This record gives sequence, structure tokens and C-alpha cells, in this order.
Amino acid sequence: MSDPADLAAPAGAPLLALRNIAKRFGVVQALSGVTLELRAGEVLALVGENGAGKSTLMRILEGAHQPDEGEVLIDGRRHAFRSPSHAHAAGVRVIHQEPDIAPDLSVAENMFIGDLRPAAGIFLDRRDLLRRTHALLKRFRLEHVISPWAPAGTLGAAHRQILEIMRALRSGVRILSLDEPTSSLTEEESQRLFAIVRQMRAEGVGIIYISHRMHEVRALADSIAVLRDGHLVAQRPAGELDDAAVLQLMVGRPITNLFQGARRAPGEVLLDVRGLCNTRLRDVSFTLRAGEVVGLGGLVGAGRTEVARAVFGADRLSAGEVRMAGRRLVLRSPADAIAAGIGLAPEDRKGQALLLLASVQDNIVLSVPQLISRLGLLRGGAARDIAQQQVRRLRIRTPGIAQIVSKLSGGNQQKVVLGRWLARQPRVLILDEPTRGIDVGAKAEIYRLIGDLVAQGMGVLVISSEMPELLGLCDRILVMAAGRIVADLDRASANEQRILDLAMQEQP
Ligand SMILES: Nc1ncnc2c1ncn2[C@@H]1O[C@H](COP(=O)(O)OP(=O)(O)OP(=O)(O)O)[C@@H](O)[C@H]1O
Ligand SMILES: [Mg+2]
Repeated sequence: MSDPADLAAPAGAPLLALRNIAKRFGVVQALSGVTLELRAGEVLALVGENGAGKSTLMRILEGAHQPDEGEVLIDGRRHAFRSPSHAHAAGVRVIHQEPDIAPDLSVAENMFIGDLRPAAGIFLDRRDLLRRTHALLKRFRLEHVISPWAPAGTLGAAHRQILEIMRALRSGVRILSLDEPTSSLTEEESQRLFAIVRQMRAEGVGIIYISHRMHEVRALADSIAVLRDGHLVAQRPAGELDDAAVLQLMVGRPITNLFQGARRAPGEVLLDVRGLCNTRLRDVSFTLRAGEVVGLGGLVGAGRTEVARAVFGADRLSAGEVRMAGRRLVLRSPADAIAAGIGLAPEDRKGQALLLLASVQDNIVLSVPQLISRLGLLRGGAARDIAQQQVRRLRIRTPGIAQIVSKLSGGNQQKVVLGRWLARQPRVLILDEPTRGIDVGAKAEIYRLIGDLVAQGMGVLVISSEMPELLGLCDRILVMAAGRIVADLDRASANEQRILDLAMQEQP
């Protein structure tokens, strides 16, 4: 028998088969012996802890990485894609965890990169481009929200992600992989995406869906595959695995008690925010005490991130003041806020938080000014110890603290952002979507750490779109709508429905 690639597709061959895939990066064995099948019209959820190898497997499928061992079969025929464009030509598309767009090109150009039809010889056919872009925007009901000619760099995180998704939908896709596609989407946008995924399934597309959110897996998946430490530990019909079984397979230990019950007794007022106003905020006032976790709830766009940025000195105020332990702060820039003992772990880790080409150590110790000597040099030993401590505490999966951050998995990059601020031990820590992209096991660790920090007297302000996180973690929840705080709920009176009702109420 010759190479299977020479033969006609064997009857009954699955749409996609990955056979015995292995991949090593230096000392990291990212994947070993992974065998997986996907049928036409099937949604396969691929789950696993941060660093388990999910994104790496998808990069191999797409030809962005070459496997050390193993093969990719489509309709039973072997394919060795040398680059993503080869994979695209064969109908394989991967939507990446971190949207990869060209910020200076327009939305329309980004959508059809590599596929721009020349009209009359050399000119781009703008009308054709516009027509096709409009059709895709309409599918997401965004035709009145996003302009096809806006530079893609001006889009917010959610719309960038949707752009990446639309790009994959545009042409003859047979195998589609979505790597944490909803991490920046609103609930409504997620629902629209799910409708599109279901429609594609009905059209016979095979879909691999990666998510850390169990309810999404339940809503979409026909079958579930679990990766642990680069090994495929199970692939079963979704109905055969309950949530507890999936978690147990993912982490190899049962997860109990995501949130700790310990009630706190908040101390003195640390942060006193009065009457903040700017273009996005309207008279925002609240307090945060030592030993307290306060949540900011509300819909995307309600002004939660703007509150964080204003308190951190990153945005201008037209009115209002911020006091720290009774003292009025002059906040001209984040440096002033940091000096006053305020830390902010922002939501957009790739854009704002990380130096992707610097090491884990440098990213963690970066904001620890007391370690920097007058010459501006870090005292090597101390910096190493601090970095190592955070790596241990947060279980950051990395071969060492010298590893370049861009080589970590998405969730582990997020942990580095948190590690930086935990190392700095500010008096007030603001966390904007702290567990986005973080697996369930690591979430429990992070919640425990936050609990320890507030027990030691820190005040923590949490912005989260995940309702269970807000309700489980916070002592009080401030609900925002249209730039205002519309409610201040204590733990006992807060529930999901109440928060949603308040967040969506009509503005006077
Ligand atoms: N280009 C690279 N160079 C070195 N190591 C890498 C590279 N890409 C991935 N790795 C390592 O391979 C392992 C698997 O990473 P991968 O990104 O596939 O994880 P993941 O399952 O997608 O995790 P997450 O849920 O955090 O996104 C990790 O230990 C990661 O650090
Ligand atoms: Mg990943």
C-alpha cells in the first residue's frame, strides 16, 4: 500500500483526524501522542488547563507550526500544511485566541486580506469589498455599528474579536476552529456567534470550539475532548460527561469550593472617590475599605473600565477627586497612582499590560520600583526571588523565569499580569476582568490569593463580566449603567437578575 494521500477518500473517513501529534518547544513537551477525530456537522469542545496544549494543537492543524510527529488527515487523506494559507485553501480556518489584525488597515481590508480582488487590472474593487464586508457585518447585526472603512486599530476588543471571526466565515470553510472566541464578547454578541456556529454545523462544517466556560461547552458541544499536559485524556459524547467529570479530567483532581466562604470585616476607608466626571463618566462616587472586595458590574460599555482608568490616573477628569486614606491625590498619570499605592491590572493584556518580548521575570518585577537602584538597575537576586515566588504562587506554567512572555499560553500570560501586581503589594488593587482566559483550577487559586490579600488589609476593586465571579468574590457590588453608578448592593441583596435589571434600566 502506498501513501494514503494517493488513494481516494476511504468511505466513512472522518472529516478531520489528527493522529499521534507531538510537539516540543525547547524543554517544553507541549503535545504528545494526540489523536482526535472530528466529523462533518459536529461541534467538538476542546478543553484543558492553561498551557495544556490546546492552541498549539490548533496551530499545527492550521500549518502555523509543524508537528514533530504525527499527521493531519482530511477526508482520510494526509495533509502537511506548510503555512496557514495552505490550510485556508483546503478549507481549514483557525480563529485565534488573540485577534491578529492589521491596525492601520480598514475593517474591510482586514476582512479580506490575501483575497482582495483587483478590478480593472490594478485597483482594488472597493465596491465589491464594501458589499462583501457589509454582508458579513449584517450577519452580526453590526452594519450600523462598525464602519467598513474605519481603521481596525480603532475597534474595541470585542469588535476586533468579531472581525477575526468574520474573516474566517467569509469563504468556503469546512473545518473551523475557534480558540476562546467569546473572551471579549458581550452576552448578546456571544449568542449571535452561537447562532452562527449552529448554522455552520447544520451546513456540515466541522467545528472545534475551545473555551474555559463550561456553560458555552454545554450550549454548543456534541462531543468533548480533554487535554491535560499535552496528552489527550478523553474524547466522548458531551452527554456522557458531566461538568464535574470534565473538571476532574482536566486537572486530575476534584475542584471544590471555587469561592471561599470566609466573611470579612472591612477596616478604614482606603479609597474615597467623589464625583468623577469625564466624557464617559457621570458623577461617580464610591468608597473602598481596607479588607474589602468591591465589584463593578454592568454591561460592556457602561463605564467600568473608565472608572478604573480614571482612578489609576490614566484618563483625564473634568470634575471630581480621588482620596487615598483621607489624602487627596493629584493624579496626572499612572505613575502618580502607583506612588500613592494603587495598582491596575488592565483587561487588554496584550495591548497594555505585557512586554511580550521581555522575560517573565522582567514583566513581574517591572512595577516594583523600590527594587530598582539609583542607577536604574535591578538588584538581580531580589528580582529573581520575587519573580520565582509569583510563578509558584500563581502556578504559572513556564520552563523558567527567563522565558519570553509571548511564548506562554494565553492564560499563563494573564497570570503574569496578576503576578506583577501581587508582587508590588499596592494598598488598593484594581483588577479588570482578572480571570479572562484562565482555567477553572487556576481561578480557584486566584480567588484564594485575593482572599489572602484582603485579609492582610488590601482593598480590591474587581471589574468582571462573569456574574458568578462578582457574586462569589465581592462584599459589595456597584452596578453601572451609562457612565453612572446606579446601585450599591451588599452581598446579601445581590443576585444575577437584580444586577442585570439594574444594568439595563433606562437612563433618565
Ligand atoms: N512558541 C512557543 N515557544 C515555546 N513554548 C511554547 C510556544 N507556544 C506554546 N508554548 C508552550 O506550550 C505549552 C502549551 O501552550 P498552549 O498555548 O498550547 O496552551 P493552551 O492550552 O492553549 O493554554 P491557554 O488555556 O492558557 O490558552 C505551554 O507550556 C506553552 O508555554
Ligand atoms: Mg490557548
